[in-house]
Amino acid sequence: MSAADDLSQYLRSRRSEIDAALLAALPTPPSCPASVADAMRYSVTAGGKRLRPILCLASAEAVGGDRRNAMPAACALEFIHTYSLIHDDLPAMDNDTLRRGRPTLHMVAGEGMAILTGDGLLTEAFSLMAREPRGDDPALVARKLRVMSIVAAGAGAAGMVGGQAIDLTCVTRGADGHLAPPLDAEGVRGMHARKTGALIRASATAGAVMGGAADQQIDAIDHAAAELGLAFQIIDDVLDVTGASAELGKTAGKDAAAGKPTYPALYGLETSRRMAADCLDRAAATLRGVGLAESRLLDIGRWIVERSN
Ligand code: IPE
Ligand code: IPE
Ligand code: MG
Ligand code: MG
Ligand code: MG
Repeated sequence: MSAADDLSQYLRSRRSEIDAALLAALPTPPSCPASVADAMRYSVTAGGKRLRPILCLASAEAVGGDRRNAMPAACALEFIHTYSLIHDDLPAMDNDTLRRGRPTLHMVAGEGMAILTGDGLLTEAFSLMAREPRGDDPALVARKLRVMSIVAAGAGAAGMVGGQAIDLTCVTRGADGHLAPPLDAEGVRGMHARKTGALIRASATAGAVMGGAADQQIDAIDHAAAELGLAFQIIDDVLDVTGASAELGKTAGKDAAAGKPTYPALYGLETSRRMAADCLDRAAATLRGVGLAESRLLDIGRWIVERSN
């Protein structure tokens, strides 16, 4: 079996476990109104690569842990990611009509319900991490608390929300009718590290913590995943230029049309791809340093850089 077939099989198998766990974790009536339950299911089950939960499980496995202990955090991360997509697509943000191959949630359920569905998914994520895995073993409780704090940092104002705020500011005219000065290279790197890198980083790190890793391994995974997270958004920017909407499941060509600061806008396509590959090399060196180069984490890193959707 080729390495690529082997990875596809691994991704398929983890995806089906994750999809089942996501369905089981979604709230249903009568605990909540059908309107919001249906809207959550619409967006969560629309597909998606499941990169963040896969990374979370792969990290737990890489450090010798039982991936079942990481599944609640993995699902929580996919809930948070899905909420970020629902809000990212709103007319007040990127104003997109296609997501995961379906009309965006606000197109089918309205803007108000899309906002609430995002709020609901974010809140359910923390409820799930607080509840599961069940048990009162102090070591388990300590890990869960540490993971909630890691995920909150990745999702919040210092992480994804902060990065989205920078993105929004770049394309929003102030009261004087002017746009903010364009971001420089370090500014774009920082925006990408926050808006996308932070949650990807949190995904891998949370998995390592739930897998019972030693601090040295957790730190290495954290550093490596920060590189992979940046690479992920660089390739997302590249695919916005080179990809087709049908394959991406979202509208291609939107970044240039909206005047977004992106890697291709700053460096061109070829240099952008090389910079993503450099991120992968740095991640590989970090993982090698703690004996994790043979784990699935690097295969997933290669997939991040080589993917076509
Ligand atoms: C898209 O994320 C938004 C970004 C953070 C770049 P993904 O490309 O992981 O979206 P899905 O989950 O596969 O739909
Ligand atoms: C979004 O970045 C990052 C998020 C936190 C959702 P993009 O706006 O580039 O994501 P897409 O291209 O719409 O998926
Ligand atoms: Mg956006
Ligand atoms: Mg967008
Ligand atoms: Mg994009």
